[in-house]
Amino acid sequence: MTQPATTIAVALTRMTTDPWLRAFREGFAAIGLPVDVLPFTGTALRARFAIVWLPPEDLFKVERDLQVVFNLGAGVEGLLAMPGLPAQLPVVRLVDAGMAPKMAEYVCFHLARLTRGLDRFGGAQGTPDWNVDRPRGAPPTVGVMGLGAIGSVIAQAAVRFDYPVVGWSRTPRAIEGVRAYAGAAGLDEFLAATRILVDALPLTSDTANLLDRARLQRLPRGAHLINVGRGGTIVDDDLLAALDAGELGSAVLDVFRTEPLPENHPFWRHPRVTVTPHLSGPTPRRPAVRQIVDAIVRLQHGERVQDLPGWVDRARGY
Ligand SMILES: NC(=O)c1ccc[n+]([C@@H]2O[C@H](COP(=O)([O-])OP(=O)(O)OC[C@H]3O[C@@H](n4cnc5c(N)ncnc54)[C@H](OP(=O)(O)O)[C@@H]3O)[C@@H](O)[C@H]2O)c1
Repeated sequence: MTQPATTIAVALTRMTTDPWLRAFREGFAAIGLPVDVLPFTGTALRARFAIVWLPPEDLFKVERDLQVVFNLGAGVEGLLAMPGLPAQLPVVRLVDAGMAPKMAEYVCFHLARLTRGLDRFGGAQGTPDWNVDRPRGAPPTVGVMGLGAIGSVIAQAAVRFDYPVVGWSRTPRAIEGVRAYAGAAGLDEFLAATRILVDALPLTSDTANLLDRARLQRLPRGAHLINVGRGGTIVDDDLLAALDAGELGSAVLDVFRTEPLPENHPFWRHPRVTVTPHLSGPTPRRPAVRQIVDAIVRLQHGERVQDLPGWVDRARGY
């Protein structure tokens, strides 16, 4: 007797559904797994799995048979904050899935921009000047907050470009070439050693508002900030005050507490803030699909969801 096909509901906002539906259907067809991949439109599909990005609130009310929800991104704070998300429903997120190298590229581009003064060039440059300063001293220390799937790749990329690199995580991490600090006890020393701070943290109850004025003041005067983690880890007004007081040299911000960043937010117009619209780590379709298809195959073979890469510890919040 043939097994009935497993139903998978796809519930995405801020991402176009159709190309993802096609990619998942192709991904499952390629391995011959009988599944129905259907868009969630508000009526019950009796789905066993859901693939989501900021799903509509009614998903969990309507789909009562869900066994696992797959988050089509690395950050899960939005999903975990949904009041309707059942407390016992396991959540699995993407781990790297091609995002980490793109984010490392984004960060290294800004490291080059900052350390070589590349903003001086491009467009109409006025009087031609060949004899500009070139950096010949020791490169500034890059400090990476969050040394997980993404932060570790950023730290390794900076090491490869010969930056001294320090890192900070909740539990101690060993990465070749990186001086690692951990936990609340290591934070001040980590910040004091950092001249270019890269925030690659998830947003949790512990990391929310972590970078306030006092913590920003622990950085050496004139340090730079690059935030690719989550906007809520930084106190916006404190960041602006630190920039205006010259404590911080500049900030590159890819993520914000409210997204899209409201048009009247001062970040848009601040002369020493570079705003990019959450594009440092796009989710490349093929590796993302492969990761979720693999995970569903493993579950179908009886593996425990807790053993999957990307299983989210809901108590920890990431
Ligand atoms: N801008 C974008 O386009 C984009 C794209 C993808 C992801 N992101 C963001 O990047 C974040 C990180 O993703 P990931 O895949 O690298 O996550 P991850 O693998 O779970 O790594 C998270 C890292 O943060 C550390 N951490 C968590 N809470 C901490 C705390 N309270 N104190 C110190 N360190 C703490 C963890 O410490 P341990 O190592 O000790 O666990 C770990 O090193 C995501 O959550 C998302 O917000 C942004």
